[in-house]
Amino acid sequence: MRIAVGVTGASGAIYGYTLIKALTELGIEVHAVYTEMGRKVLEYECSVTLQDIERYAVIYDNADLFAPLASGSFKTGGMVVVPCSMHTLGALATASGRDLLTRAADVTLKEQRKLVVVPRETPMTAIHVKNMLTLAQAGAVIMPASPPFYPKPDTLDQLVDGLIRQILSALQLVPS
Ligand SMILES: Cc1cc2nc3c(=O)[nH]c(=O)nc-3n(C[C@H](O)[C@H](O)[C@H](O)COP(=O)(O)O)c2cc1C
Repeated sequence: MRIAVGVTGASGAIYGYTLIKALTELGIEVHAVYTEMGRKVLEYECSVTLQDIERYAVIYDNADLFAPLASGSFKTGGMVVVPCSMHTLGALATASGRDLLTRAADVTLKEQRKLVVVPRETPMTAIHVKNMLTLAQAGAVIMPASPPFYPKPDTLDQLVDGLIRQILSALQLVPS
């Protein structure tokens, strides 16, 4: 099975990185696209480069609208946008499709596949909240980057894993 992962320039690059690794460990083919700010925040927050991510995923240029992810004929088991910036959230809510990430997410929705969006911002404005509502009404799963504390994580990795497990569960790849 293939899963698409879009990573934007919101804080929490570790979520995208950890999800990609977790999907690979489950034997899933990962097709990933980073926005320019997604790549910069990954390097800034995690000291990880896109070359490092290439060990786990096929990485596409976000400007390449000829890439397979831009077409509904390229079958995937769904897409996760994690973390999702307010900029990309707005683009998703208007079905902008101006770059590969937003086009791939729009394709996921139009093909009635599962789109999981993990927004990260605080506080949020009414514009942000309306954009989340628009996407939820279009069928997306809105899963804010708020990891659970009830597993009593001792480390940052355990805290991150709590959210990743919930994303994998939303994709029905692990039991809830
Ligand atoms: C270190 C850093 C952290 C950021 N964190 C957030 C965030 O949590 N949420 C957000 O919406 N934008 C955040 N931004 C701003 C976005 O990167 C910016 O709006 C950018 O235009 C998003 O572009 P993209 O959606 O194409 O990745 C952050 C920027 C930097 C440099």
